[in-house]
Amino acid sequence: MKILVIGSGGREHALCWKLSQNPKVEKILCAPGNGGTAQIGENIDIKDDDIPALVALAKEQKVDLVVVGPELPLVLGLENSLKHEKIPCFGPSAYPANLEGSKAFSKNIMADAGVPTAPFRVFDEFDEAVAFIKERGAPIVVKADGLAAGKGVIVATTEEEAIEAVEDMMIKQSFGAAGERVVIEEVLKGEEASFLAFCDGKNYALLPSSQDHKAINEGDTGPNTGGMGAYSPAPILPEDKYAETAEMCIKPILRHLAAKGEPFKGVLYAGLMYTENGPSVLEYNVRFGDPECQPLLMRLETDLLEIMFACIDGTLDQIDVKSSPQTACGVVIAAEGYPTDYPKGMKITGLNDADAMDGVKVFQAGTKVEDSKIVTSGGRVLCVTALGDDLAAAQKKAYEAVTKVHFDKSYYRRDIADKGLNRLK
Ligand code: AMP
Ligand code: GLY
Repeated sequence: MKILVIGSGGREHALCWKLSQNPKVEKILCAPGNGGTAQIGENIDIKDDDIPALVALAKEQKVDLVVVGPELPLVLGLENSLKHEKIPCFGPSAYPANLEGSKAFSKNIMADAGVPTAPFRVFDEFDEAVAFIKERGAPIVVKADGLAAGKGVIVATTEEEAIEAVEDMMIKQSFGAAGERVVIEEVLKGEEASFLAFCDGKNYALLPSSQDHKAINEGDTGPNTGGMGAYSPAPILPEDKYAETAEMCIKPILRHLAAKGEPFKGVLYAGLMYTENGPSVLEYNVRFGDPECQPLLMRLETDLLEIMFACIDGTLDQIDVKSSPQTACGVVIAAEGYPTDYPKGMKITGLNDADAMDGVKVFQAGTKVEDSKIVTSGGRVLCVTALGDDLAAAQKKAYEAVTKVHFDKSYYRRDIADKGLNRLK
């Protein structure tokens, strides 16, 4: 079997790594891929938003399955175009992908489906948005409606900051068309968790809980990033709460979309906030999280290829999706200066030493092969992931593995999983 994986992050390296464990998989192509995916298969230099070129590649290479890592190609309708060519694709079609592609769409579906979420209003007019902010006061959250590369959410502590955010989005158009419409909502306080489920349009199979670390600095301070580390399970969402949590945030969405004739197939990711009044959904993503994917796939025991085809075929109810009872912890090593400006091209050493450790896997993100060596090419460079019998053991092993890997001007948080450990005390 030949598989095409779309994307270039640590998530995609993890997807290629896991899929390659199935003996039926003969070849993996990755577009555009990174240094890690190049070691498993072949990288093809096509960007994730070039839908016609991706479809042409899948056709030409006669691939048996396309696996989509990031949200952009899904929102742009890659699944729909592939379906037209009768090529199986793991990932939702464009309409349900709007759960991530449009915050207004997502919030309206949550409201319609009875999913708990922060009270909100949607605005197309700048003056009305400003009037609402003045009426409600701060703190308040301003969100660009469309995809904004993780930068479209402002949790404003003052009215001025909120108005400035709206001006930035609607008048200055900093995010282009993505900011023409905004969602303004109430601030929720609490601890966050990620809850992901494989979905086949009707049935779902839950993955264990996980937790990302979005801020660049220790103690969750500094600007937000794509994610500086993740671990699974997250004690804030223990296993005995999975079923009722899915009843709250996965099942109603699947039912709602199916009733509209737009079934959701792929991975549905609920970003949860545990407030004083219980969990509330902050957002949906329509794909694996990065870096949550890395610890989750380290724990996944059931064959991923089989799960993906079951999602596409609507037969997920016939599969028992199992994860190891162990804990996994992934620490992201970034280039100093990320998420703003950072150097590139630094040579990375020690990858094999870390990988040789029992229960450790280094997933590569912003890396590429240059003169047969792995060098950095992005802000988030690696996600060093380890399995352990409990969270303390997984954390210890992950940081031990981190010390084996080196490149100039590297940076990582030293407190990944501390929040979970504090909760277990
Ligand atoms: P989103 O893309 O909607 O998940 O937002 C990104 C991040 O912004 C979330 O992970 C939260 O940390 C934060 N956020 C979003 N909505 C809210 C809210 N209503 N209250 C507090 N923080 C929020
Ligand atoms: N780790 C958060 C995300 O993938 O959106």
